[in-house]
Amino acid sequence: MEHRSIAIDGPSGAGKSTLAKRLAQELGVFYVDTGAIYRTVGLAARRRGIDPGDGQAVEAMLPQLTITMGYGADGLQRMFLDGEDVTGAIRENEISACASKAAAIPAVRGFLMEMQRRAAREHDVIMDGRDIGTVVLPGAGLKIFLTAAPEERARRRCRELLERGERADFDQVLREVIERDRRDTEREAAPLRQGEDAVLADTTGLDLEGSFQLLLGLVRERLGGKEEQA
Ligand code: DC
Repeated sequence: MEHRSIAIDGPSGAGKSTLAKRLAQELGVFYVDTGAIYRTVGLAARRRGIDPGDGQAVEAMLPQLTITMGYGADGLQRMFLDGEDVTGAIRENEISACASKAAAIPAVRGFLMEMQRRAAREHDVIMDGRDIGTVVLPGAGLKIFLTAAPEERARRRCRELLERGERADFDQVLREVIERDRRDTEREAAPLRQGEDAVLADTTGLDLEGSFQLLLGLVRERLGGKEEQA
């Protein structure tokens, strides 16, 4: 049976993962967080003392890695690196920059492509990332480009860090957000951009509930009711 997919792309901190996760629960489909896969490569480089921006060194590391994705009893995605559950470790702040640098390397993108496409072949999915609608799943039934102003995304990121008991300096977080946007949009390999067939969803000024209703409205309008969507 042909599986249905929804692609959500956009910059970091736009709320993609929180909203996609909730939408997947609402629609009864799998949620695939592709950023987590790039983060796992970033973590692997860091652990081996490899500069995640060094294309040759990172490419040479790839065949040594076993990266797998699974789902816990709670239905949420878990990432494994060489058999170790690294779901928590990949969320550390310093891994964000490592992932962004590694993600600019074409060999890394090629290496991870099949894992992402396989998930969409095997399940109905909501997949979020940077190039899902444009490169990974060009045939997705609905493509959403989810964004918000950089300041708003930095505020949300600070809140998240504080809730986790980590330090958060707004100016520094904003600089990191802008730098990551720049790296993700200016890279040559599958840059972050809104595809022509993607619907723009700007959540600046919306809270989580408002953002969720915006996306749910788009799904219902473009794909019909819950029953048809499955
Ligand atoms: O969504 P995230 O912040 O967890 O993603 C981490 C990094 O991975 C981000 O800087 C961009 C990169 N990424 C990508 O290039 N393509 C994807 N499909 C998903 C993430």
